Amino acid sequence: MVSVRLENIVKKFRDVVAVNGVSLEIKDKEFFVLLGPSGSGKSTILNIVAGLEPPTSGDVYFDDDLVTHLPPEKRDVAMVFQTYALYPHMTAFDNIAFPLRVRKYPKEEIKRKVEEVAEMLRIKHLLHKKPYEMSGGERQRVALARAIVREPKIFLLDEPLSNIDAKLRVYMRAELSRLQKDLKVTTIYVTHDQVEALSMGDRIAVIHQGKVMQIDEPLKLFKKPATLFVAGFIGSPPMNFFNCTLEEEGDKYFLDAGFFKVPLDEEFFNTLRSRATGKELVLGVRPKDLIVRRERPPTDGAFEAEVYAVEPLGTETILNLRVDDNIYKAVVEPDFRASLGEKVVACIDLNRSHIFDRRTERAIV
Ligand SMILES: Nc1ncnc2c1ncn2[C@@H]1O[C@H](COP(=O)(O)OP(=O)(O)OP(=O)(O)O)[C@@H](O)[C@H]1O
Ligand SMILES: [Mg+2]
Repeated sequence: MVSVRLENIVKKFRDVVAVNGVSLEIKDKEFFVLLGPSGSGKSTILNIVAGLEPPTSGDVYFDDDLVTHLPPEKRDVAMVFQTYALYPHMTAFDNIAFPLRVRKYPKEEIKRKVEEVAEMLRIKHLLHKKPYEMSGGERQRVALARAIVREPKIFLLDEPLSNIDAKLRVYMRAELSRLQKDLKVTTIYVTHDQVEALSMGDRIAVIHQGKVMQIDEPLKLFKKPATLFVAGFIGSPPMNFFNCTLEEEGDKYFLDAGFFKVPLDEEFFNTLRSRATGKELVLGVRPKDLIVRRERPPTDGAFEAEVYAVEPLGTETILNLRVDDNIYKAVVEPDFRASLGEKVVACIDLNRSHIFDRRTERAIV
């Protein structure tokens, strides 16, 4: 039974603020993901939970116990690092067995446990090898096995799948997430890969410049991004953004993006006006929700664009549409035929769009 609570954690490295006031609560048995771009402060947060770095200010609790100043060996956490740290002179078997030997487990039990976890991570054939005889991905799996075998209070995993090839990674994603549910160990998992985060996390904290942007369940993050950053970071291909202004002309209301206008009814216009800090907004449309047609529809909310590139991916095709110097992406049926330079019409459905305040960068509907 361990929950983890971070209270207003700040970490400065001289003039760099790596973590800038992070408060989080990770529930007992939860698979919690820290997701963010490179340099956003994810590893620093994890190191603070592990006790490898002291925070500049703020506190860490495991359940109701204050652990901010407890050394790592007293925290009973197992960490897998971004760069795998194996004992170079030991075989994979001995590396994995090490934490059990330290705890004086009987020999037979050590053998059984090591083989069980090796089976799970598909590394049985590597058990007699030393780290220099293994590839990066193989070493990473051995490091994972070593963390799993000792059944700690908390798992801290820092991009443990980053060196593994794409196919094995997809397999390992599901295995790890299943394993965590079976072991019921509170887990904090760091990644910059949104697919990994969405597929594995019970909840995800999106981190940007040392701050928490949003904490939510995977689908909620995708469907209701709270900020422009989250909207642009989650989802592939990324959301299209159109700068626009909120306008009224007599009894007509619309969002004006310059090269197209989206009509609004009066009620919605009033909602936007009351929630926004000004007229400057950003309309966000996911590529799947940007509808491509050959002909201009009779209604507003559409713009003409030139087909700039076509990416057939098998299950879907991504059209890159050019307007002036901007490229927008639309997902179309896999058998959609388009030639480069061809003119098409892209249509916006307000019911499938997101609207942000350009000044605060926060979602307003
Ligand atoms: N020991 C250190 N000394 C000085 N600056 C550091 C140190 N560790 C991290 N930083 C800085 O703190 C910021 C956050 O780094 P951190 O390693 O936490 O990012 P990250 O989100 O894990 O990135 P990545 O995805 O690339 O691993 C970065 O600007 C980094 O340069
Ligand atoms: Mg990192």
